[in-house]
Order: sequence, then C-alpha cells, then structure tokens
Amino acid sequence: MKHAALKGTVPITFVEPHTIAPYPTDTPAHDSHGRRIDYLRVSLTDRCNMRCVYCMPALGMHFAPRPELLSDDELLLVIRAAAAAGFRKLRLTGGEPTLRPNLVELIQAMKAIPGIEQIAMTTNALRLRKLAAPLKLAGLDRVNISIDSLDPVKFRQISRGGSLDEVWAGLHAADAAGLRPLKINAVIVRGMNDDEVLALAALTLQHPWEFRFIEVMPLTGVAGLAEAGVISSTELIARIEAHFGPLEPYGQDPADPARRYRILGAPGKLGFISAVTDPFCATCNRMRLTADGRLHLCLLRDNEVDLRAAIRNGATQAEVEQIIRHAIDLKPWGHGLPEGVLPRVRGMSELGG
Ligand code: 5AD
Ligand code: SF4
Repeated sequence: MKHAALKGTVPITFVEPHTIAPYPTDTPAHDSHGRRIDYLRVSLTDRCNMRCVYCMPALGMHFAPRPELLSDDELLLVIRAAAAAGFRKLRLTGGEPTLRPNLVELIQAMKAIPGIEQIAMTTNALRLRKLAAPLKLAGLDRVNISIDSLDPVKFRQISRGGSLDEVWAGLHAADAAGLRPLKINAVIVRGMNDDEVLALAALTLQHPWEFRFIEVMPLTGVAGLAEAGVISSTELIARIEAHFGPLEPYGQDPADPARRYRILGAPGKLGFISAVTDPFCATCNRMRLTADGRLHLCLLRDNEVDLRAAIRNGATQAEVEQIIRHAIDLKPWGHGLPEGVLPRVRGMSELGG
C-alpha cells in the first residue's frame, strides 16, 4: 500500500518498499526532470545554541524529542543506502550539527562508506575551537561558518545570544585544522545588517575565504522578516561595485548555487546566493534528510518522504535505497515563491539551509 498522509498540512509520503516498481540499481539516480541528484544535506539535530532571527522565531519553537530522531545506526543505514543510490557529497547541518552527540564517530563512519567522496558541514562555529581538529581527523573536509555581523553587540542581537569572539576562535581553529576552503555565510536583511556589506566584503581583501551573501528566504516562522527584508543579490553587487570597482566573475561551478566573483586583486571570493530573486532550481543537485528521518524534496516546498517509518518497520538497506530512488523521482521541479507558494511546515532550523 502506498499512500500520502497529512501531518498538519505536510504532504508526507509513506512507502511500503514492495509497492514501488523496482528502480534499476546499476545507475546513479536522476530525478524525473533529468537532474542528477548526488548531494545530500543531513540535518543531525533541530536544536541550536543560537537562535538567529532569520532562522527561528523568538517564541513557540518545538524541538523533536530524542526518540523521534534517527539513531546513529539508523542514520548510517540511510547514508549507506543513499550512497548506493548515487549520492556522493554530504553536508552536515542542523540546527547546529556540532550539538549532535558522537559527531566525531559519526563522521568517521560516514567517511568510510563506499561512494561518499566529500563531507562538509555548515556550523555557527561556537564549538569549533575544540572540535575543528578532531573533526578534520575524522574525515570532515570543510566547513561553512555563519557570520552576519562584525560588531559583537549586533552579532549578539541577531543570533540572540551568540558570542562573536567564540565564533572567530572557531573559525581560526577550522582554518588551522585545514577545513578548507573556508566559506562564510551571511544572511543579509535590510535594516538589520545591510550596512555591513562593504565591511564583510572587504574581508576577502585580506583572507582567502569565500564570503557568501544569502538572500533571506521566507521559511516557516520567519516569513514576515524575509518578505520585508529581502535584498536582491543584484542590489548587493551594485553596492559592492560602487565601492570596490567592477567585480571579476570567478569560475562558476554548475552544482554551486552561488554566483561567484572577486574584488580585483583579492585573495578571497564573493558568492551571491539568490534563491528568491534568481532561483537556481534548474541545476539543483540536492535533497535534504531531516533529523527525524524524512527526505525533504525541495527546501522551499513541504513534500517529504518518510524513511524512518520504513526503517522502524524493518526495511533493509536495499529497500531503503529503493525508497530513496523513489523520492528522487518525486522531487518537484522547483520552488513556488514566484507564484506565492510558501513552505508552511518546517523551519530553517529543521532543514539546515
Ligand atoms: N534564509 C536564508 N538563509 C538562511 N539560513 C538560515 N535561515 C535562513 C533564511 N531564512 C542560513 C544561514 C546558515 C544556514 C544554515 O542557513 O546562513 O548559514
Ligand atoms: Fe532545489 Fe528546491 Fe532549492 Fe530549487 S528550491 S534549488 S528545487 S532545493
């Protein structure tokens, strides 16, 4: 039996493995729009030690109780099945992935899975001062770190309590441990931190980092802030060029949503991620795994396929691989922001960007 169930308003698909036509297992999976899907973003926890205003609402957050999350064994089963279906790159996200117990051991185990070529992590860096070196040793390749302000007071306000000093210490530990190339994410919101865009961009004159400016997206809980505060990458580029002169385009990678540039002569790069004003769905190569074991098919849509239920019903790795291939087949072409369709169920803290 195959059926869609509604949790609140979420279209979740539960699949009994024997009900789906077997998908061939000798080729890496492509979706029904011809895109090769080989990049899995894995949310390890929905919890965080910060509460950034563009990610979580101030009140009313609900965090999943532990038994609802995939256990380490369940998670590794999913990653093995995903690798068999053709996934090659993992990104660990959250919430804040460094809050996951046994993170070092988990990364070691993931890196040993045949097919997994690269593991990256998106983190707020608060815990990297101590963790960077052991994570690198375990097999983590690189990190993206969020820094939305260079002013400690404003940083504390935006993150509702985070310490910028600790983040810098974490960033330098990551650099020293060789978690490179280091990328830094800044979500720019009008009236919040857009006055710092030039100072943030100027960091690339001194460091070989890639600084990525992200348009704020209207995920659940922050849609109001996002609608009022979105600044297009086009506007940011114009502001940066007015100050630093024409930006030089810098080798585009089709699997990377960022448009990349460089200030002339700078060792670092600038990236602009414009999911709202210039969607990159046509080259999408990714899916997301939530900490509670669902494949989330498109960041900005609600559709999910439940893997946890299948695993807890005893599905084998080969059966989980079939469900993953089915989920890839169901992946929507793209998001519906231009038509006013907003995601309504999961917040960014459950999806990890
Ligand atoms: N819009 C865009 N990016 C966001 N992030 C978190 N919330 C949002 C949002 N509403 C980004 C942060 C973080 C990553 C996990 O997701 O930059 O680095
Ligand atoms: Fe891919 Fe969905 Fe993101 Fe578009 S919005 S790039 S389809 S995940």
